Amino acid sequence: MDVEFLGDTPPATASRSTDAEACVDPKPYRRGEKHPLNRLNELSGEEWLYFTRTVLTTAYPRELGHDVRKAHGANKPPRLMKLLIEFFTAAGGRVLDPFAGVGGTLIGAAISDPPRYCLGIELNPRWAEIYHQVIEEGAGIIPACPMTVGDCREEMRRLEDDSFDLIATDPPYNVQLERTMCNGRYPGHRNRQTDYNMVSASDLDLANAGGYEQYLDSMEEVFSECRRVLKANRYMVVIVRNCYQNGEYVYVNADLSRRAKRAGFVPKGEKIWYQAGTRLRPYGYPHSYVPNISHQHIIILQKPRQAMA
Ligand SMILES: C[S@@+](CC[C@H](N)C(=O)[O-])C[C@H]1O[C@@H](n2cnc3c(N)ncnc32)[C@H](O)[C@@H]1O
Repeated sequence: MDVEFLGDTPPATASRSTDAEACVDPKPYRRGEKHPLNRLNELSGEEWLYFTRTVLTTAYPRELGHDVRKAHGANKPPRLMKLLIEFFTAAGGRVLDPFAGVGGTLIGAAISDPPRYCLGIELNPRWAEIYHQVIEEGAGIIPACPMTVGDCREEMRRLEDDSFDLIATDPPYNVQLERTMCNGRYPGHRNRQTDYNMVSASDLDLANAGGYEQYLDSMEEVFSECRRVLKANRYMVVIVRNCYQNGEYVYVNADLSRRAKRAGFVPKGEKIWYQAGTRLRPYGYPHSYVPNISHQHIIILQKPRQAMA
């Protein structure tokens, strides 16, 4: 029987065993050995299992052009992106990041083992320039990946159907308010300023959407294009930080997962990425509970083999 093992379907031989045995086929479980039926990635069983934990507590070093890239307040550690790319693609896999910023995903793809191709799309030319600067200053240490400047909703229309093995992205997290709960309110407390005000003036910037529902509508439009360009059975990982706006906690992760499902993806899980170094700010103190959000969600979705009704 020709079985394509992409992670959900246990190996054909496993159905005869108990659940415990089904999970542990001793031979391919060793480091460096890939299961012959594994078409998803290059990992051994041991590495595969380790990745499936739902909480990530890793602190990543400041490296790979970090000082230049940190001009973008939401830049992602290339090593985090490498981890995701190495799980969700095999050698030769093609990755797309429609909200590429200063290139965390592109650099993550370039340092993957072996390196993967990654196409980035970014609206703000300033962030694309910083990415190119990091690559030039790296003088060949980090292989270059292509970065297109434009609105991803427009740019993705030029891409072929079923042409990518993974979408790995970190979109704007919500509509950005001109004033946050702390802007200017506590002049003596610099640590009440938020780090996430990195928005361009462009109307095409999803963070400048007219309201939260409009932001979600635009994201659903992006997800529909992502589903079209992604190969069947392949994954999309979306990193998102929930927020607290106008006195309410907004579960952006849940809302985006629902919109991705409406666009034809199957929700598969999430990883909580705990950011241990988050600075604690006395937002509600001493009157009310206001969270210091010290985690991000990595939402994992899959394009089904057949279009869903
Ligand atoms: C959270 S940041 C991504 C950061 C990126 N992961 C990195 O490592 O630098 C989201 C990015 O989406 C971009 N963006 C917003 N609207 C966009 C659109 N319509 N098309 C393409 N990019 C857009 C923003 O300029 C911003 O850089």
